[in-house]
Amino acid sequence: MKTEVFYIPFNRRRLLHSLALSAGGLLAPQVFAEALTLTPRQTEGPYYPDHLPLDQDNDLLHLQGDSVPAGGVVTEFGGRLLGADGHAINGAVIELWQADTNGCYIHSHGIQRGKERDPHFQGFGKIETNARGEYRFRTIMPGLYTGRTRHYHIAVVKGGKRMLTTQLYLAGEPANERDGILNGIKDEVQKLSVIREFKPVSYESKELVATWDIVIGGTPEDPERRRGGPGGPPPGGRKGPPPGGQGNRPPPPPQ
Ligand SMILES: [Fe+2]
Repeated sequence: MKTEVFYIPFNRRRLLHSLALSAGGLLAPQVFAEALTLTPRQTEGPYYPDHLPLDQDNDLLHLQGDSVPAGGVVTEFGGRLLGADGHAINGAVIELWQADTNGCYIHSHGIQRGKERDPHFQGFGKIETNARGEYRFRTIMPGLYTGRTRHYHIAVVKGGKRMLTTQLYLAGEPANERDGILNGIKDEVQKLSVIREFKPVSYESKELVATWDIVIGGTPEDPERRRGGPGGPPPGGRKGPPPGGQGNRPPPPPQ
């Protein structure tokens, strides 16, 4: 298993830094005290990996020992994990799992009809936040599959407890407007907080980058509402966490 965090070249780092500053990195926590919006809870969905890859680092584009990168449009996103009062949360684990470019997941039932899973795509990764609450992933644009718009699945684990399960969306995706899970977030500000514009990293590059800060409350998710372990189904069927906000109503059936 790789242990290193992927290296971010200087020009990209500078862009990310400027994005981070514009997203609030220059402002003191107290400025945020009344302004931070909790990142809304979203259903875990049915495809949290039921068999985790050996390589679980934050570069999903490359599997250890595999010289072939994953297919698809390369993306990067990251930002800070913050508490509701704006303080950075150190030492939490951010997990990402998502469809490959063919819309398939690392899951026994995650292969879409007529498709094959990209064997070069890691499908799942994680990273621990640093003292500034920062995290980052290098991955691909998630593939489409029936019934959903493009989305990333995210979980935040702190002290061994799942604090948040949510999804991240790409601005401008036509299917966003009819996605039942995204539009299950009735609070417009919360909804916009999980939609991010992925911009080209440079004029010449096809890689896309986005900044996304995640804001969590202090209460772990109810383990009865999750699907067992860090992601398996609970006894008696699926009950995803509420889509509309941390601590609101149950969601529609996961897709
Ligand atoms: Fe999904």
